[in-house]
Amino acid sequence: NRRVTIRDLAAAKERGEKWPMLTAYDAMTASVFDESGIPVMLVGDSMGNCHLGYESTVPVTLDEIAMLSAAVVRGTKRALIVADLPFGTYQEGPTQALRSATRLVKEAGVGAVKLEGGERSAHQVELLVQSGIPVMAHVGLTPQSVHSMGYRVQGRGEEAAQQLLRDAKAVQDAGAFAVVLEAVPAALAAEVTRSLYVPTVGIGAGAECDAQVLVWTDMAGLTPGRVPSFVKQYARLRETLGDAAKTFAEEVVSGSFPTEDHSFA
Ligand code: KIV
Ligand code: NA
Repeated sequence: NRRVTIRDLAAAKERGEKWPMLTAYDAMTASVFDESGIPVMLVGDSMGNCHLGYESTVPVTLDEIAMLSAAVVRGTKRALIVADLPFGTYQEGPTQALRSATRLVKEAGVGAVKLEGGERSAHQVELLVQSGIPVMAHVGLTPQSVHSMGYRVQGRGEEAAQQLLRDAKAVQDAGAFAVVLEAVPAALAAEVTRSLYVPTVGIGAGAECDAQVLVWTDMAGLTPGRVPSFVKQYARLRETLGDAAKTFAEEVVSGSFPTEDHSFA
């Protein structure tokens, strides 16, 4: 009855076992995923888009990540909880990254942090890992760089592919326990996965990655409008929840709720 550790994930790669990861932003949803056997949850800065109503992940603050991470930790017993370091809380250098990550580990109780960037973030990864904080890296499409990069598939063309391989190896060599590959052609993601001894976690990166992650509101059909083409929707929560709200509203207006069953005699 202990939490999943980074050693369990390393062992899974050795055995060739794939594992799932979902984002989580609150205790209740996280408890559902924990009871469903999801071994790793990410308190992603995607909370900016899907939870806090921002246009991107860029405005998300360390306070916001810390508060929701603490909730996810409280709501779970078994999963390894990974929290994103938001934009502007690690780019200044290793010392800033350590200060930010330490807060998430001490205050929120997470077991690991994630940060974006390959070669450019390797020094940050190294200091965190030396300090005892497990780090998940994130290369390919890195949404915190939306203003310079846009939301486009990465690693297309020989030069970009070689750079992506160097980025993934740089964070592995710096001590990262896993590397997220976002929006990368499947063949390149497969090559990165074979080249690394740590697990790759794919999102829009094909079937050969060691693990797969999705934003939970996308995978459950709660996100409004279009979702990226790499998302599979396993439920239609937006419709289900909307129907419940409409029926409740109708019954209040018509007087059919509450009945005696829902009243105190
Ligand atoms: O914030 C997030 O949800 C992420 C995943 C998409 C990997 O970084
Ligand atoms: Na993120």
